[in-house]
Amino acid sequence: MPALTSIRTSEGKLEIVNQLLLPHTTKFIEIKNVDDAFDAIKSMKIRGAPAIASLAALAVADHLSRGLQSTPVPEWLGSVDALKQHVETILAYLFTARPTAVNLGAATRRLSKTLQASIDAGKDPRAVAQDIVAEAKEIDAEDVGRNKQMSKLGGDWLVERVKSGGGDGTQLNVMTVCNTGSLATSGYGTALGLITYLHETGKLQRAFYTQSTPYHQGSRLTAFELQSLNIPSTMLCDSMVGSLFQHHKIHAIAVGADRIARNGDTANKVGTYNAAVLAARHNIPFIVVAPVSTVDLDIADGDSIPIEQRPAIEACLVRGALYPTALDAHGVKQQATVMVTPEGLDGVYNPSFDVTPASQITAIVTEKGVAVKKDGADVFDLTPIV
Ligand code: MRU
Repeated sequence: MPALTSIRTSEGKLEIVNQLLLPHTTKFIEIKNVDDAFDAIKSMKIRGAPAIASLAALAVADHLSRGLQSTPVPEWLGSVDALKQHVETILAYLFTARPTAVNLGAATRRLSKTLQASIDAGKDPRAVAQDIVAEAKEIDAEDVGRNKQMSKLGGDWLVERVKSGGGDGTQLNVMTVCNTGSLATSGYGTALGLITYLHETGKLQRAFYTQSTPYHQGSRLTAFELQSLNIPSTMLCDSMVGSLFQHHKIHAIAVGADRIARNGDTANKVGTYNAAVLAARHNIPFIVVAPVSTVDLDIADGDSIPIEQRPAIEACLVRGALYPTALDAHGVKQQATVMVTPEGLDGVYNPSFDVTPASQITAIVTEKGVAVKKDGADVFDLTPIV
C-alpha cells in the first residue's frame, strides 16, 4: 500500500497527491506556484480543512524561498513596503479559494500577523520573508501532533462515557462522515484519528463510514485509509444511516469540522446534520473532533458560517476506475467520469457543507480538551478548549 499523505516536500519541490484520482491512482503533482495551490484547493485535488490550510501556507513559503534564492533579487524583496504589499495580495488571494473551512483563513491571518510583527521589529525584507517561511512550515508541521492529542482525548472520553453507561468500553462501533484522516490533514487525522486511536488501543470493533456523495470522500478516501490501516470497517450509502442505527449497536458518531462557531454550531461535510439528527433520535453520542484553528470565535452561531455551493455538474457526475478493471499501456488502471443524471437538469442543489446545531452535538474535542454542554444548555462554552 502506498503511504497515505496529501502533501510532500522534498528537494525543494512542493507536491500533493491528486485526491481526485484516489483510490485507484496515486499520482503526485507539483505545486509550482501560488496559482497552482489556489487551483488545487478550488478544484479539490487537495481537500480537508487542515490540509488546505497547510498547502496554502507551504505555497507561500515556497514562493518566498524561491524569491530569496533568485538573482536578480525580485522587486518585491526590495523594501519592506513592497514585500508587505506582495505577501498580503497573495494571502488575500489564497483565502478566497474555498470559503467554509476557517483553517485556511486562520493560516493566512497567522502569516499576515507574522509579517506585521517582523516589520514592527524593524527587520529587513529578507529577514521578514524568512520569518514568514518559518511560520508557514510550522503551520504544517504542528498538525500531526495536535491530531494525535485530540484523537486520544476524544477516544478516552468516549471509552469513559460508555463505561459510565454500564458498558466495558471495548468493542466499540463508531461511524464517521466524509474523510478526516491523513489525506485531509498533515497526518493521523481528526475524527478518523479518534477511530485509529481506538483501534490502536484495542477498543474498536468496527468503523462505519458514509459514502459522502457527491464527492465520495467516504467511499474513495476513508475506505482507502481504513483499508491501508487494516481497521475493520463497513461502508454505507448516505441514505442508510437511519437503518444502520436501527439495526446495529453504534456507540458514537465522530466527525470533523470545517468551522465551529462560538456557540458550538458546526459546519462539516453535507450529510453530517442528517447523521446528527438521527444520532439524537437513537441516543448515540455525537462527537466533533477538530483543531483549535477550526473554531471561529468571531462568529456567534452557525447562521453566519458561509456555505460553499459547488458547481451543479459535480453532483451529476461520478468518477472512478473502469469495472471490470482495464489497464492502460503503462499498466495504470483506466478511469472514467460518467454522468448519472439526464443532461441539462435545470435545478441541482449542491451545498458542500451543512451546519449541525450545537443542540445536536454531545461533545467537541480539540487538542486542548473535551467540551460538553452544561446540564440543560443548548450551546457550548468553548473557552476551556480553545
Ligand atoms: O469538501 P471537503 O472534502 O474539503 O470537506 C472536508 C470535510 O468536511 C472534513 O470533515 C473537514 O474538512 C475536516 S478534515 C479533518
